[in-house]
Amino acid sequence: MNQQLNSIEETEKQKLATDKSILKIWGSSRLQGNVNISGAKNSALPAMAATLLSSEVCRLHQIPCLADINTMGKVLSALGAKIKQNGNTLDIDPRDLDNPEAPYELVRKLRASFFAIGPILARLGVARVPLPGGCAIGARPVDLHVRGLQALGAEVHIEHGMVNAYISGSKKKLQGAKIYLDYPSVGATETLMMAATLAEGETIIENAAQEPEVEDLANLCIAMGANIFGAGTKTIVISGVPKLHSVDYTIIPDRIEAGTFLIAGAITNSDITISPVVPKHLSAVISKLKSVGVRIIQETSDSLRVLHGETLKSTDIDTQPYPGFPTDMQAPFMALLSVCSGSSSMTETVFENRMRHVSELNRMGANIRVKGNHAIVQGVPKLSAAPVVGTDLRASAALILAALAAEGETTFQGLQHLNRGYEQLDIKLQKLGAKLQKVDLVKENHTFPSSI
Ligand code: EPU
Repeated sequence: MNQQLNSIEETEKQKLATDKSILKIWGSSRLQGNVNISGAKNSALPAMAATLLSSEVCRLHQIPCLADINTMGKVLSALGAKIKQNGNTLDIDPRDLDNPEAPYELVRKLRASFFAIGPILARLGVARVPLPGGCAIGARPVDLHVRGLQALGAEVHIEHGMVNAYISGSKKKLQGAKIYLDYPSVGATETLMMAATLAEGETIIENAAQEPEVEDLANLCIAMGANIFGAGTKTIVISGVPKLHSVDYTIIPDRIEAGTFLIAGAITNSDITISPVVPKHLSAVISKLKSVGVRIIQETSDSLRVLHGETLKSTDIDTQPYPGFPTDMQAPFMALLSVCSGSSSMTETVFENRMRHVSELNRMGANIRVKGNHAIVQGVPKLSAAPVVGTDLRASAALILAALAAEGETTFQGLQHLNRGYEQLDIKLQKLGAKLQKVDLVKENHTFPSSI
């Protein structure tokens, strides 16, 4: 426990430093070498929540060291779990889970911590989790989570910004049910799948999200003793069990980090190899990279190599739930499209406000017009460095990618977003030969230009 508190204090200090840091990037260098892909953030977060379902200590491997993971750790601690971190391995002891209420300050920072409502309710018979609210990319309601829990027999009341859920009756057990999701929400599928593992009877989730992270979560729960069939397809069937046991589980590689590095190779016309990856998880991204002219070779079952291509050309992309093109790759891919010859279109269909990188890319010389959630990208021969600000995680990744290809020195502000989802991105890029440097504005007595 002390180890955990120390690590959290350390992260707070790092965060303060990060908020006052910028990244300077000198573009146009070729990259070369191998990149080690971290464990998937979006698998790790629900996996941590899922350990609350167990009455024994659970061990998770390949958990990336990220700000979001630390916030989730704090949520679990606040609920009564004990956490020990050793590098990328987490030991979570949920035996003393006794507080059903997640703190607002933490849920506000990390909306994925709302997904813990399913496990808390299933274990304690009661859960109080604040509504997470919207964020930079959209309103992000949780109505599908709430309706699904109600279908499983929970009483749910929302008052004063708090979702109060409880199971009435003496048995304190959720009841299996047939749930149709109006939209294949990743988070709602995960919340309901976790809750249903300890329910009485059978639950069927129809129009479920098919993302690899949902399947990974199901595999984790199965390894803990749950009965789950069909995860990774549109219909998931869960047959409830009385309790779940301990587990030693390694989560999947991060397909979005992998895709970001494939684009880093493509946009700098470089030769880099990424591993470990599950190539199947990247099918839509690889297909679009190939259609713009990037050469990608599967070197081994878990590694991909991106190579110097010909002149890159335009393509059209719509984001879709998996197996479609991922919304999390929309901004990074747009950085690449901005230097592909011809006119490309990019349509965001998953979130309503995920085009905020466009104005910053245009400040770097890109030629992109946006109407609603539709962008027309007219390729330019070269981007030029500029001071830029990242507004969310993937928008920040897009700007870093653009900076790697741009002529001159880019100053990037927004490391607090980047550190939520990319483990040591600056160090990994430096190892490939990219020229970049983190600068502490306070130490250097710098101020960021006021015009941005
Ligand atoms: N939605 C509703 N009602 C709900 C739930 C979702 O209307 O109850 C809507 C959302 O507002 C959105 C759409 O459904 O417009 C899709 O949302 P979804 O629930 O699928 O997303 P999520 O579970 O909140 C996860 C990832 C996101 C990723 C999306 C889509 C985690 C922790 N987050 O979010 O990751 O973009 O799925 O694939 O798993 C990121 O990593 O940068 C990130 C935002």
